[in-house]
Amino acid sequence: MSAIDQKVLQDIQTMLAAHDRSSAVPEGNRFWIGLGEKHSAIIRKYGFEKFKRTVNFEYSQWGVTTLSEPKVLRLISLLLQKKNLPVESLAWVFSYTDENVKGIENVINDIVWSDEIDSITGKPFNTSPIGGGARFRAYAIYCTLLWQYAQTEDNLGCLEKVPEPAFGSPLPVPFEGRIISQDLALSSMELNRMASRIPMGKIRRVLEIGAGYGRLGYLFRQMFPDIEYTIIDIPPALAVSQNYLETVFGPEAVAPYSENPPFHDSRMKFLLPGQMNKIPEGYFDLILNVSSLDEMSPDQVKEYFNLIERVGPAWLYLKGYGVSQKPGFRLGVNEFPYRPAWQEIYKGQDDLVGAFVEKIFRLGRP
Ligand SMILES: C[S@@+](CC[C@H](N)C(=O)[O-])C[C@H]1O[C@@H](n2cnc3c(N)ncnc32)[C@H](O)[C@@H]1O
Repeated sequence: MSAIDQKVLQDIQTMLAAHDRSSAVPEGNRFWIGLGEKHSAIIRKYGFEKFKRTVNFEYSQWGVTTLSEPKVLRLISLLLQKKNLPVESLAWVFSYTDENVKGIENVINDIVWSDEIDSITGKPFNTSPIGGGARFRAYAIYCTLLWQYAQTEDNLGCLEKVPEPAFGSPLPVPFEGRIISQDLALSSMELNRMASRIPMGKIRRVLEIGAGYGRLGYLFRQMFPDIEYTIIDIPPALAVSQNYLETVFGPEAVAPYSENPPFHDSRMKFLLPGQMNKIPEGYFDLILNVSSLDEMSPDQVKEYFNLIERVGPAWLYLKGYGVSQKPGFRLGVNEFPYRPAWQEIYKGQDDLVGAFVEKIFRLGRP
């Protein structure tokens, strides 16, 4: 096991223990302990250096399986509407079939699609429902279509300026002479949406709730290096984002999780939910959430909305399922307890996932 594997596994344990002691999360911690064990087992087996081929399928990376999936068809239709013929993307149809995977067998053997993992034991199933070159090819076509679409929306120039870090071993999808990624395309679409309504030049401090491995924090810091970025999340994800961003930006850029987070310090910070009361009032200018408040209990969402009001950002960006996926147990973005004084300045259906909405609020502070 490499040194970084040991460090991530140790951080997961430390954070789980601290999270367990916290009374701020009433939902019970068994689920997170189970998830921590599952991700630890995968990291032990495949290595943290390959997390973009394994645990990342449980964050925002969609494990597209076939070309007939709605996301693929939607992207083709969006590109055609923009008169942007996705020729380069569709050229992939002729590459990497099951009979023609020479040179990438090692990549294909590394990939752990989330539906190939037993969620109780964390062990891979022996047989994959749809595996090998055909599945990788469908994924690659989807990625290139998404990339081409994200380019049409990229007024900030994120996709030209920012590379996908090699650390984490992104799936090797080449396009226009570089390795592209689903995560960078999605993050670019999100950041461009924010910049279309929010004066980014005025933003000094950002809080992201539930950041996965930190894909959006990575792009934010690359595009706006002076912004102070804080992540509040639970383990195992918090240990993954902390170690990933530390590897990518260097140890001096990161203040790792600690009992007393160093506010008023420009390093990236990593907080557990039990520490939310330590955040100074009015500290953040922008709070973000992508696909995680819609996975929490209504009580947890209420607690985060109290936090949002207290730490007093000027702006709030949300993306996730519009209506609850588990009525009574979860809330959708359209159902959150918004305050009457918050001004909704953007609302729209997500370009990629029809059931997702994006919202931007102005919360009062100039
Ligand atoms: C589906 S992932 C989305 C990750 C990331 N926003 C992205 O789009 O890549 C859900 C995230 O919510 C986090 N999460 C779940 N419960 C949470 C809680 N109570 N507080 C903060 N984050 C939480 C998970 O750990 C994970 O990082």
